Amino acid sequence: QLMKVFVTRRIPQEGMKILKQAGICNLSVWDSDEPVPRAELLKSVSGAHGLVCLLSDRIDAEVLDAAGPNLKVISTMSVGFDHLSMDEIKKRGIRIGYTPDVLTDATAELTVALLLATARRLPEGVQEVKSGGWSTWKPLWLCGYGLSGSTVGVIGLGRIGLAIARRLMPFGVKRLLYTGRGTKPGAKEVEGEFVPLDTLVSESDFIVVSCALTPDTQGMCNKAFFSKMKNTGVFINTSRGAVVNQEDLHEALSSGQIAAAGLDVTTPEPLPTDHPLLTLNNCVVLPHIGSATYATRGIMAELTANNLLAGLTGAAMPTELKL
Ligand code: GLV
Ligand code: GLV
Repeated sequence: QLMKVFVTRRIPQEGMKILKQAGICNLSVWDSDEPVPRAELLKSVSGAHGLVCLLSDRIDAEVLDAAGPNLKVISTMSVGFDHLSMDEIKKRGIRIGYTPDVLTDATAELTVALLLATARRLPEGVQEVKSGGWSTWKPLWLCGYGLSGSTVGVIGLGRIGLAIARRLMPFGVKRLLYTGRGTKPGAKEVEGEFVPLDTLVSESDFIVVSCALTPDTQGMCNKAFFSKMKNTGVFINTSRGAVVNQEDLHEALSSGQIAAAGLDVTTPEPLPTDHPLLTLNNCVVLPHIGSATYATRGIMAELTANNLLAGLTGAAMPTELKL
């Protein structure tokens, strides 16, 4: 008896191969690069034993009810899980797989790239070259901020936050501050100082947000937060858009309260092309590509598939989300 599995998107073939070769799944796939429409999701999930989803799929009571009592396992191809209604899932005894660790390096690299691009104004520079705005070498033109001798503040020194800190230290960072729910043993390696959020915000030249989105962190980067930052401060977020109050960020960037921001995540995603943040030269917005290397996405798909199969057969998952 094959078990019904719904996959909400086209995923890398490494993952599909594992699901097919297992020979225990009756697979149906929303065979597109675009998200499955909600109505389609509710229909396709009906009777499923397993669900493979992405961070762009909201998995709540409505979806779980539409799936019905067969559903044993949800395997998300993401490290973030704020799109999953945890209480509803647990209540129904459904297991959850996710993809920590395998995307840590790729996401840390992207964060460093975004930080440097934002601080050194790369998108503006590229634009000037293309538009003919580059008239000559000018002493005062396109100056930005460097990491050498700076203080960097990491909000959420978890797997990814620590990997970011490790990569930034060799640029000559003088102090590494971090904050979160408690001290982290890994902080020693980067000589990280655990400080209250307010201290981190007011003393950092660069602030990097790499915490999970939770009720505690939702809207944390707001008017009060930005008003404590240095006017020369650079703000980077590669976690989840909802950690930031975007109106307050827009105000801080356009008034000169802070120097620049680099965002790999926004609310909503995609950010509408007429969004006020996109009119600002000092705001660099990327389309949520933190884990987007070919290799990483392939490994994420494999892990997602292996988590799902373990959930279907009642085996130990490589990476089960247990909260
Ligand atoms: C990306 O944002 C992820 O959660 O994997
Ligand atoms: C920069 O190109 C310099 O020579 O100072």
